[in-house]
Amino acid sequence: MKRRITVIGTGRMGAALALAFLARGHAVTVWNRTVSKAKPLEAQGVRVASSLDDAIAGADIVVGNVSDYATTTALLAPSAMTEALRGKLFVQLATGTPRHAKDAAAWARAHGILYLDGAIMATPNFIGQSGCTILYSGEKELFDANAPVFAALGGNAVYLGVDIGHANALDAAILTVLWGSLFGTWHAAAICEAEGFPLDAFASTLGATLPVLEGAMKDSVERIAKRRFAADETTMSSVETCHASVRLIHAIGQEHGIHLGLSEALEVIFARASDGGRGTHDMAAVYQGMKG
Ligand SMILES: NC(=O)c1ccc[n+]([C@@H]2O[C@H](COP(=O)([O-])OP(=O)(O)OC[C@H]3O[C@@H](n4cnc5c(N)ncnc54)[C@H](OP(=O)(O)O)[C@@H]3O)[C@@H](O)[C@H]2O)c1
Repeated sequence: MKRRITVIGTGRMGAALALAFLARGHAVTVWNRTVSKAKPLEAQGVRVASSLDDAIAGADIVVGNVSDYATTTALLAPSAMTEALRGKLFVQLATGTPRHAKDAAAWARAHGILYLDGAIMATPNFIGQSGCTILYSGEKELFDANAPVFAALGGNAVYLGVDIGHANALDAAILTVLWGSLFGTWHAAAICEAEGFPLDAFASTLGATLPVLEGAMKDSVERIAKRRFAADETTMSSVETCHASVRLIHAIGQEHGIHLGLSEALEVIFARASDGGRGTHDMAAVYQGMKG
C-alpha cells in the first residue's frame, strides 16, 4: 500500500531515504533545517515542507534522520510536534545508543506515538539496493505491518525483536568491528610506508588474508558465547603467541615514530590475559580482560 511518508532531515542519508521511498511510489514530504539543501529534491517529486509541524501533519509515517537523537528530541519536543505525531508511527533512523532508543521509546509512549527504532548498516549509495541492511527493534506487529514500506529502503530489513535497544546495540557492535579493522588498516599502512613497502601490494595481500581473519572472528565469538577459553584441539593460536606479535608491532611503531595508541591499547588488554595466567589459553581468552 502506498503511504504518505515524511523524512525529517535531508542530509546525505535522509535525502537517499526520501528518494528510495519515492521510487517505490510513496508520497514523500521532507523537512530540513536548511531548506535550500532540501530544495533539489522537489524536482524529483518530493514535497519540501516549510515547517516541521506541517511536514508531520500530513504523514502516515514519519522517519527521523537528523544527525543524532538529541537533535531529534529538541526538534520534536514542542507540543505542536507531539500532537501532530500522536497515533502515527515514528521510525528513528539516526545513529544512537541503546539508552537513546529506550529514552525515545519512553517519550513516544508518553505521547501516544507509535515507535520503532532502526539502525542503518549502509552508506547512502546502498539505500534502496539489495545489499542494504537496516536493523529494526520494537513491537513486532508494528514492524510486520510496515515491512512492505521498509522494503523500499533496501533488500535486507532485519527485525531484531521487541527490545528497543537492540538495533543500536548491534549497530554499535558492528561499527566497533569496522573501526577496529579500519584502525588496524591505517596503522598497517603506516608500517608499510615506513618500511617502503608499496601500498598496492599491501592491499592485494591483505585481501588474500581476509578468510583467515573471518575464520578467527567467527571462532572467537563462538568461544566467547560458550565460555570455551582453554586451549583445545581446535585452537589455532595461544594468547602468548598473539601477545608476542603485538609486542613486535609496538616495537616497529616505536622505531618509526608511528602513533602508538593502537598498539598500547592492544598491549594493555593482552597483558591482562598473560599476567592473569592465561598465556597458554586460546587467543579468544583475551576477551576475559575486556570488562572492568
Ligand atoms: N552517511 C552515512 O553513511 C550513514 C550511515 C548510517 C547511518 N547514518 C546516520 O544517519 C544520520 C544522518 O547522517 P548523514 O550522513 O545524513 O549526516 P549529514 O549529511 O551531516 O546530515 C545531517 C542532517 O542533520 C540535520 N541537522 C543537524 N543538526 C541539526 C539541528 N540542530 N537542527 C536540525 N537539523 C539538524 C542537518 O540539517 P542541515 O542540512 O540544516 O544541516 C542534516 O539534515 C546520522 O545519525 C548518521 O549516523 C549515516
